[in-house]
Amino acid sequence: MIRRREFLRRAAATAGFALACKSSPVAWAQSDSDARVDVLLDEPLGTISPNIYGHFTENLSGVIYDGIWVGENSKVPNVNGIRKELIDQMRKIKPAIVRFPGGCFADSYDWRDGIGPVDKRPRRTNFWSFGDPPPAPVTHRYDPNRFGTNEFVQFCQLIGGQPYLAANLRSLPAEQFYRWVEYCNSPAGTTTLADERAAAGFKDPFNVRYWGVGNESWGCGGNFTAQEYAVEYRRFTTWVPGYGNELSFIASGPDGDSREWTRGFFEEIARKGKEQIRGIYGWALHHYAWNLSRGKTQDWNAGKGDALKFDPVDWYEVLREGDRMESMINAHWQIMGETDTDHHVKLVVDEWGPWYRPGSELTPGDQIEQLPTLRDAVFSGMTLDTFNRHPEKIGIACCAQLINCLNSLYLAHEDKFCVTPVGHVFQMYASHQAAQSVRAEFSAPSIHYDRDGKPASFWGLKGSASLLEKNLVLTAVNPDVSHELEARIMIRGAQAKSGQATVLTASNIHAHNTFAQREAVVPRTEKLEARGPNLNFRFPAASVVKLEVQLA
Ligand code: AHR
Repeated sequence: MIRRREFLRRAAATAGFALACKSSPVAWAQSDSDARVDVLLDEPLGTISPNIYGHFTENLSGVIYDGIWVGENSKVPNVNGIRKELIDQMRKIKPAIVRFPGGCFADSYDWRDGIGPVDKRPRRTNFWSFGDPPPAPVTHRYDPNRFGTNEFVQFCQLIGGQPYLAANLRSLPAEQFYRWVEYCNSPAGTTTLADERAAAGFKDPFNVRYWGVGNESWGCGGNFTAQEYAVEYRRFTTWVPGYGNELSFIASGPDGDSREWTRGFFEEIARKGKEQIRGIYGWALHHYAWNLSRGKTQDWNAGKGDALKFDPVDWYEVLREGDRMESMINAHWQIMGETDTDHHVKLVVDEWGPWYRPGSELTPGDQIEQLPTLRDAVFSGMTLDTFNRHPEKIGIACCAQLINCLNSLYLAHEDKFCVTPVGHVFQMYASHQAAQSVRAEFSAPSIHYDRDGKPASFWGLKGSASLLEKNLVLTAVNPDVSHELEARIMIRGAQAKSGQATVLTASNIHAHNTFAQREAVVPRTEKLEARGPNLNFRFPAASVVKLEVQLA
């Protein structure tokens, strides 16, 4: 694909960003631009909930054991058994919320197994054990329950986030749900469960607000119809005491993009009276970009692509699949609004990311672990920008999953650790948290390419903008694998005083970090000579960019 003015600018391209990254302050070119971004400061869209920058930690293979939990007696530096390097890295990204213990695992989990004296906790066959053949350690197959509610809440406290617990609706009775809430939230000394918590060293209540009520209840979470699940949801959530806390329940959303599930659930809930909707905080939406077959199959295994071996068409294919997020958000929001007319219920995108076929795992035996590349960084930036553009709709979002899994921010094994390109994107985008999302209109020429003999296209530049006091943050991705893009940025309603640019890219689209090469893909920050209402910026090919501009 040859972009407009590409020929004229080829030479400048090489000098342009390379220089900007490695030596001088990023230049604000005064020439014409390929693209244009209008930041409309007087069009606020809503506050970006920090909970949009959430994480997912399932008891699945190497996520908990080896990833988060190394044990108090480990030679790996730890804080009460929790990997110290993970704590240190996570503090940098301001992780607002973390979901545990699943996923599908949640509907097989008895929370009581994970509390009480550690030497008395039972060992159980892990829900995911079928996929963890040797050399996976035994803890991946047989859950030692060493990491339970207390340890998880402590992990959240150490990283500065809040817990989001997913309750078992398939295989435990509703009574066990409100007992778990009682264990977590009843004040010190008031109940037998509060005493049990205190005996474990946690006198003060955990005050857990967010509770998932089942997971993927159309499938692993009980194989219900939407109507059956709605009845169960009402039963599980009615009259659960909060012990002085507001409880926010999250209902299990659709299978993929199934509109029938969303409509069926909301209609059934409301059949008992519209006020029933008030008992729902969030509607879970899961979206994995897994089918890279370019329309050839819908088979879950055959449709997947490779995490490391891909060509530019595969690159665009993952982004196209991931980009469906925005239409899913809009479609399900609209359907929810048919019943929930004042939009009380928020969307909770508590699982998102690309999902590749096995084979790229850094630690052999770690089930569904994959090695994130620059492609996944661009995917993640694109997705977080999408959430930022819909602050009124999205209450929570959790990237799947935090460590040693799918779109992981971190990879770890024993004493080895690295931050993936996805982890760097989360650190860059943390500046959006709690800021006011403002409308930013991106117009850029589309990318055109050959998709199996048929012409295909993908958008050329997209992102989001937010304002916190006088700090404007603009993030965007240039998905073009080989061409940089120069954009004119018009700040409507203010003047830039100073700024800085952070860019995550690499010369190779397959670039990734490993235990041996921890810094193959890292962001670089440069000062911007930003003055006045208009700026030009060159977005390098295959990049995630953050521009921070201080306004006069
Ligand atoms: O993230 C892995 C699995 O994917 C989760 O357990 C489940 O909810 C989803 O299908």
